[in-house]
Amino acid sequence: MYITVQETSLFIEDQGPVSALPIILLHGFPLDHRMWSHQIETLTASSYRVITPDLLGMGRSELPSSNISLDRYADDILAMMDQLQIPRAVLGGFSMGGYVAFALLRKAPERFSALILANTRPEADSPEGRQNRMKMAASLYEKGSSAAKDAMLPKLLTEHTRAESPGLVSELEQVMTAMEPEGLVHASLAMAFRPDASDLLTSIQVPTLVIAGEQDPITTPEIMKSMADQIPASQFHVIPEASHLTPQEKPDAFNAVLLGFLNSIKP
Ligand code: MLT
Repeated sequence: MYITVQETSLFIEDQGPVSALPIILLHGFPLDHRMWSHQIETLTASSYRVITPDLLGMGRSELPSSNISLDRYADDILAMMDQLQIPRAVLGGFSMGGYVAFALLRKAPERFSALILANTRPEADSPEGRQNRMKMAASLYEKGSSAAKDAMLPKLLTEHTRAESPGLVSELEQVMTAMEPEGLVHASLAMAFRPDASDLLTSIQVPTLVIAGEQDPITTPEIMKSMADQIPASQFHVIPEASHLTPQEKPDAFNAVLLGFLNSIKP
């Protein structure tokens, strides 16, 4: 369904019982809420409420009308929670969604009762990383959204999965090439100029699940372990034989860890 927040139209899926524990899952780049389809199915079958928005300018959500920072995505999520009358939720972020989760923790930590950080990192971009985002923005303008697909697809899945799961590969290709290039440019620039969130880690007060992919070249298990070590109440898991996109590449293993965590924090 579509909701209007901060005068722009956001597409969200809101599934499961309205009275159940709400879990908000934020997608990565250059993806949309569909990356969570396996988690939506499993979590709603276990009677959780799962809310998966398309971040502004991605998926079916409207394009921003001017430059944005990650704070804008975070403000949209808080406005979405207000509109859905959700005072407090479990917050999950995958990669870029994790960067947005950090922005949310800085703004309104009291609105989140637990945290899931999948294949993400707290640090800001290095100067070289920032330069690469600029190159990505330029090639998105030049070649369209296939520029992001070509750069990301080889990193999202292991070579083995790409060879063995052509259906998943073509599903991801379709999602990525259907993106508005302009929305991806906004996201690239917002990520390039995001602040370092490392200082937040030791102050996270809520139970936190950290999930890494064994073969993830973007947010390696080492990066993720070091992040988990700094979060007081964290659990750290590595998904075997997975690259970056753990929720979609190894949904069964991912969901087992996720359900175990959610059961462990049940009041
Ligand atoms: C993502 O999966 O969201 C991206 O890898 C994040 C990034 O480019 O830093």
